[in-house]
Amino acid sequence: ERPKVFITRQIPQEGIDLLQRVADVDVNPVDAPLPKSKLLEAAAKYDGIIGLLTDKIDSEFFEAGTNLKGYANYAVGFDNIDVAEATRRKVPVSNTPGVLTDATAECAWALIFAVARRVVESDKVMRSGKWDGWGPMQFIGGDIMGKTLGIVGAGRIGTAMALMSRGFGMKVIYTSSSGRRNGVLDAELHAELVPFEELLKRSDFISLHTPLTPDTKHLFDSSAFSLMKDTAYIVNTARGPVINEADLVTALKTGQIAGAGLDVYEKEPAMAPGLAGLDNAVVLPHIGSATVSSRTNMSTLAARNLIAMLRGKKPETCLNPELFD
Ligand code: GLV
Ligand code: GLV
Repeated sequence: ERPKVFITRQIPQEGIDLLQRVADVDVNPVDAPLPKSKLLEAAAKYDGIIGLLTDKIDSEFFEAGTNLKGYANYAVGFDNIDVAEATRRKVPVSNTPGVLTDATAECAWALIFAVARRVVESDKVMRSGKWDGWGPMQFIGGDIMGKTLGIVGAGRIGTAMALMSRGFGMKVIYTSSSGRRNGVLDAELHAELVPFEELLKRSDFISLHTPLTPDTKHLFDSSAFSLMKDTAYIVNTARGPVINEADLVTALKTGQIAGAGLDVYEKEPAMAPGLAGLDNAVVLPHIGSATVSSRTNMSTLAARNLIAMLRGKKPETCLNPELFD
């Protein structure tokens, strides 16, 4: 009998096509996050599930999913999954690293350019019909060439983002939770591994690429912002809760830092009160991986992972590989 697979929301068709060769596939017909009750029903009914970063894959999910052979996350970040619980219940789980690295790094650069050169603010003035012609003191922004870029979390995405700074001759510094040096950044950019406080003090641009863990939650709060230069910018394409968003609003309002570019939020889809009214913040709706190739490859990688798990095999990008040892 063909296994039954559920996908919690429409994803690019390529992965669905792969799955349909070996399984009966149902896709949530509503293009909206799946309510928790429906997610639990699906866990009970299907052999395998592809879910999103908006789905909470917690102990209740695994409690309901007594016959589940695997769960494939359509995301690289997996703070939505209780991996320890999955392992305890012997359910393999996977994510989609690698295929969205450049897209997310490019998104961080889009935020850097937009916030430093006041792109969104300027665009708004043009559309309002209020621009009265060139002026020497209008929309003066921050320089990028030759400045210091601080990478928090020099993993795949942080490394790619830093390498893209080559065209701007930037000095790259980075932190490392493991304390290990990044050989690529050291060799290619003569980058420096520095303590967190030093990164805060020296950076002109800080780009966040760390996963969300208990250690990185609210890593950026009022005390971190107080150590940054008042000319510095922060961009976050990682996970919202790495920044205390209320503290960020205060830092932006009081001029403690120059600006922020955000793709992710503490309580998505909400923004902290006051954030939407700030011209020195550029805010995107979590689109880091939203390119044609990234989303297509996320779809096919999640599908290949789930097919492997349905066959009792280790998926390519497994979050609990110890289940297969
Ligand atoms: C998106 O945020 C992802 O983790 O893939
Ligand atoms: C995620 O892909 C990372 O390691 O940066």
